Amino acid sequence: MTRQTFPELQPDAIRATRDALHGYALAMGDFISTFRPRRKHWWQNSLRPCLDGLTTGPVYAQIDFELELNLRHSELRVRVDNGAQLYEPLRGQPAREMTIRIAHFLSENGLTRPPNLGDAAKRIESTTEYSASVANDLASTWRAVSAALETFRAGIPEETSPIQLWPHHFDLAMMWLPGETINGKDPANEETADKQMSFGFTLGDGTIGEPYFYITAYPQPAAFEKLKLPAGTIWHTAGFSGAVVKYGSLIMEADPEAYLVDLWNDLLRAGRQYAEQESLRKSAMNNNERKLDWHRVADIDELPEGRVKTVTAGTLSMALTHIDGQFTAMDNKCPHQGGPLGEGSIEIGGDGQCWLRCPWHGWDFDPKTGLPPGGHEDTGQTLYPVEVRSDGIYVASKPKHRMQPLLPMSWQRR
Ligand code: FES
Repeated sequence: MTRQTFPELQPDAIRATRDALHGYALAMGDFISTFRPRRKHWWQNSLRPCLDGLTTGPVYAQIDFELELNLRHSELRVRVDNGAQLYEPLRGQPAREMTIRIAHFLSENGLTRPPNLGDAAKRIESTTEYSASVANDLASTWRAVSAALETFRAGIPEETSPIQLWPHHFDLAMMWLPGETINGKDPANEETADKQMSFGFTLGDGTIGEPYFYITAYPQPAAFEKLKLPAGTIWHTAGFSGAVVKYGSLIMEADPEAYLVDLWNDLLRAGRQYAEQESLRKSAMNNNERKLDWHRVADIDELPEGRVKTVTAGTLSMALTHIDGQFTAMDNKCPHQGGPLGEGSIEIGGDGQCWLRCPWHGWDFDPKTGLPPGGHEDTGQTLYPVEVRSDGIYVASKPKHRMQPLLPMSWQRR
């Protein structure tokens, strides 16, 4: 039984209030980004959901203070360590006005260093049509989303970020970090080097003009776009690439929270499995490179681009392919009934990807990974290392680490 309820949100009806609140969140963000020390992935700049809206949490500066956007009472509350409080009613006033009001109050109470003004000062200059009732619904929505994220996060053993609202994009999100860095990226720059997935919710933006949930991965495994997704979830590619659930469609579900947590868990499992495969593959490759037994299997010009042929490396029969200027070799026997893949064909799928097709019953395999198309549960084919040398193409008879297919999604259980 779901505890939190997701109120109905009409995109046109919430827009003006959402934009006003976005401005206030940016104003709050200016105060924390000025005074908080840097944390990785810029976590110092985010707000936290609280019972009735959003809070900065305590900010430790010359004086300690806290800002809260209280949507139940439609007030921006400023509290200072000396006991002073400012309750500023929300009426759709420009974010700039709010920034000045907060800065003045803090200065009166002993904060002499002014905040660095960022986006808030440039945002909406005029008063917007702010609705206290819409704001209250948005606070309830954030509460319901936060509760679902808390449930999801509680089951994750690896590192996760706080559940946080980003003032810039005005999205409530959580990040998963498997603790691995991307090859070739400077590990000191965690923002670009850390593998990660984000699970977030926004009230609508320039890409999708209505509230929606998103799940993105960085770097995004190619196999992700081929995962089977449940009804109501789509793979979005315009502007960003990720799984998307529109809020309007989510609240039609019998149990929206269960739908979200299942979706997040399934995509997290796929991401985790991919990260593990990558790391196993790297260590297997390192081991293999030390002691490989190489066999010359073909002349360099013997296999034209877009073709496949059977070759023999030692005692092993393999299908050698030539695609995108790259040669790859995989076990010649199809896992279905042992069909000779070297006598198969290279086919281009609807998405432009090349597949090696078994000549007997038409099963496909990705020549570069050995995997079948996403969502299939077949075992991947074993791949072998290939080197192009001046006197021909060489294949080693010791297998690379075999990729496993990504876990099948579990939607059928509902
Ligand atoms: S033997 Fe390869 S698809 Fe059946």
